[in-house]
Amino acid sequence: MEYNLQQFLFLTDLDHTLVGDNQAMEKLNQRLNWHRQEYNTKIVYSTGRSLFLYQQLEKEQEDKDKALLKPDILICAVGTEIYNYDDQYQLTLNEKWSEHLSQAWDRELVKQIADNFHKLIPQPESEQRPFKVSYFLEAHNIEILSKLENSLGNSGLDIQVIYSYSDHKNYHNLDILPSRANKGMAMNFVREHLEIDTARTVACGDSGNDIALFANRKEKGIIVANAKQELLDWHNENPNQNRYLAQNKFAAGIEEGLKYFGFLVE
Ligand code: GLC
Ligand code: MG
Repeated sequence: MEYNLQQFLFLTDLDHTLVGDNQAMEKLNQRLNWHRQEYNTKIVYSTGRSLFLYQQLEKEQEDKDKALLKPDILICAVGTEIYNYDDQYQLTLNEKWSEHLSQAWDRELVKQIADNFHKLIPQPESEQRPFKVSYFLEAHNIEILSKLENSLGNSGLDIQVIYSYSDHKNYHNLDILPSRANKGMAMNFVREHLEIDTARTVACGDSGNDIALFANRKEKGIIVANAKQELLDWHNENPNQNRYLAQNKFAAGIEEGLKYFGFLVE
C-alpha cells in the first residue's frame, strides 16, 4: 500500500471548533493520533489566542484529563505567529514568518490611530502581539468599523481588520493585522513548508477569524454546526464546493466533515 497517499494536513481552530465537547474531542483525537502514526498525517492548530493563552488552555484541558494532542505546528495570534517544535519538543518561533510580516507593518502607528476610537476597548496585554493589535467592540458600535478601516488606510497602512463574535454577548473581538497575515495566509506558509497538496489539506473553524481559512480555497473546509453567525452568513454568501457545513457541533462536526471528504472512513 502507498501509505503516503493517505497522509493529510489537518488544520483546526481550537475554541468552539476542536474544543467544546470533550467526549467528541477524545474520540476524534484517537483517530487523528492513529492517522498521524500510520500515515504521517500532520496536525496543526491555528488559534486566535496568544501563546500565553494557548498554554493556559492546554493546562486547563490537562487538568480535566481531556488533554489536547500535541500539534506538529502551532499557529497563534490569528495567523501572525507560527511555532515549530524542536527535537526536545520545545517551541521555537518561526522567524522567517515574522520577518515576512515585519516588512510592511507599523504597529505604533496602527495603535496610535486606533486608540483615537474611544469605542474600542483594548484587550488584555497578553493579546497585544508584535503583529496583532486587539480590541473589544460592542456589537451596537459596529458602524465604526468602516471609519476605522478608512483612517488606517488613509495613513498608508497596509492592514486588515478582522471582526469575530465572542461569547460575551455584547463585546466582540476586533483584530488589526498586517495585510500579509491571517489564518489563511499562515496556512499557505505551513502547507508549502510541509509539502502537502491543497487537495490533501483540510481546515476547520467556527468564527470570523476563520473566514480566511475558507475564502476562495482549493483546500477543503469544515464549518462546525455551532458556528457563529458572521461565519454562517459569509458561508451562505460565498458558496464553494470545497467547503462543508457540518450538522454536528464541535469535534463531532469535524469528524463528520473528515468523513464527508474521505479523509477518515466510517
Ligand atoms: C482570541 C484572541 C483574541 C482575538 C480573538 C479573535 O480570542 O485571544 O485576541 O481577538 O481570538 O480573533
Ligand atoms: Mg473559534
